[in-house]
Amino acid sequence: MTWLITGGAGFIGAHVVRAMRAAGERVAVYDDLSTGDPARVPGDVPFVRGSTLDADLLRHTLADLSVRGVVHLAAKKQVGESVERPLHYYRENVQGLQTLLEAAAGGGARAFLFSSSAAVYGMPDVRLVTEDTPCAPINPYGETKLAGEWMVRAAGRAHGIATASLRYFNVAGAAAPDLADTGVSNLVPMVFERLTRGEAPVVFGDDYDTGDGTCVRDFIHVDDIASAHLAAARALLDRGPGADLTLNIGRGEGVSVREMIELIGDVTGYGAAATPVSAPRRAGDPARVVASADRIGSELGWSARHDARAMVASAWEGWCLRNPGARR
Ligand code: WQD
Repeated sequence: MTWLITGGAGFIGAHVVRAMRAAGERVAVYDDLSTGDPARVPGDVPFVRGSTLDADLLRHTLADLSVRGVVHLAAKKQVGESVERPLHYYRENVQGLQTLLEAAAGGGARAFLFSSSAAVYGMPDVRLVTEDTPCAPINPYGETKLAGEWMVRAAGRAHGIATASLRYFNVAGAAAPDLADTGVSNLVPMVFERLTRGEAPVVFGDDYDTGDGTCVRDFIHVDDIASAHLAAARALLDRGPGADLTLNIGRGEGVSVREMIELIGDVTGYGAAATPVSAPRRAGDPARVVASADRIGSELGWSARHDARAMVASAWEGWCLRNPGARR
């Protein structure tokens, strides 16, 4: 059987492709290349360029490639943009998912994995976020992910497809330098960018009610995200129709923004030049979002292997590949 990986030319999707292929699974990639890069798709992996809104192309792709499982990562993921263009986000993330689910159900898919996000929790007021922590997204991006989870579960139940929603926490790192994130919209690449320009990193808010006053997050290596997909995909096939998993993918360990920036200074050799300056809080940032990783451990026997240093070091190698002048 073949797994169709939508968004497989993107940063996380390309890692999922590599991990599943290395484990002997047959995979194909479906991506509209709006943000993806075809160079990330290995030459021997079938690749279809298309939108998740294109019902005909999806139907033909699923049939032509004998797809029995779908790993759906193709989506829009910028929180700020989702506030400015909510209808675009609902169209791409919700209508696109609906179109894909219709094709998957009609084409006899047995398993469907959905890329969800810790953004479904909004501003959780708990030390560790479990999958039972109430979902209360605070932006259209998070809403589309929560609505997506509902749709996936309902469709799976009605059409006999085993389903999983995987809630990623703060993804960082790269399994290889050429697979690194090319976007500069999260903490680690944003700090790299400032250091490379000779500027001090910025901390958005240092007066939070946390250990050092800066926000705390659960950073997780993209290679661990990928291995969690493999474990979930296999579990769905084993368990069969009726299986439905909702799982956090995190390490269960909080790292503050200040700690992360310090680590970046250390790993990159920028040292004291990486001493951050403080700026006002960014709107909509929760003080602390750290996963409980208990459920994925007990359901799949999975746990993260990489620590924060490995994430920073591998992300830095990728950054230096594209910005050779950055290295000290
Ligand atoms: C982390 C912390 C910033 C840059 C976002 C989405 C979330 C998910 C992951 C997709 C925050 C602080 C950042 C900087 C800083 N996306 N920061 N200086 O906001 O936790 O999560 O990406 O599913 O839905 O909201 O990640 O990397 O943007 O920020 O102080 O230069 O770093 O304020 O506290 P976030 P992030």
